Amino acid sequence: MNQTFVSLSVLASVAFCSVAIAADLEAAKRGETLYMQHQCYSCHGTQGQGGERNAGPKIFPNPTPYVAFELQMRTPRNLMPRYPVQNINDVQLKDLYAYVENMKPSSGSSQIPLLNQAMR
Ligand code: HEC
Repeated sequence: MNQTFVSLSVLASVAFCSVAIAADLEAAKRGETLYMQHQCYSCHGTQGQGGERNAGPKIFPNPTPYVAFELQMRTPRNLMPRYPVQNINDVQLKDLYAYVENMKPSSGSSQIPLLNQAMR
């Protein structure tokens, strides 16, 4: 394998990865809209932290694998409403999962200036 070929393939894979990451981010963005539209936040919180009084469990960090996510959406195991394919299609479901996987963890109390002042 010559040097040029190696560098070209490295370059190609870097380019491919950036395209893949950009696509993931777009999917996550669409997923965020769905998360808000379908009011998942009302039970699971806007950061997936879970709701009060057991409205819904924490779903981020450590989201369930996609298969379990899909199963829960289509045939929820207990109290969660069902989201059939007529409401959220398979492509949208993947976008929603991309969002759940990439949620931002909430900042700790040490990052909230007002709380820090109050603690002093
Ligand atoms: C009315 C409250 C409610 C709403 C709205 C809701 N959920 Fe849930 N969700 C729950 C409850 C309660 C559970 C626990 C399992 C059950 O009761 O079916 C759950 C479980 C889950 C789980 C599995 C968590 C685990 O650890 O097994 C995922 C993932 C999830 N919900 C995602 C979503 C998404 C995405 C939406 C929006 C499309 C949504 N939920 C809307 C209440 C809700």
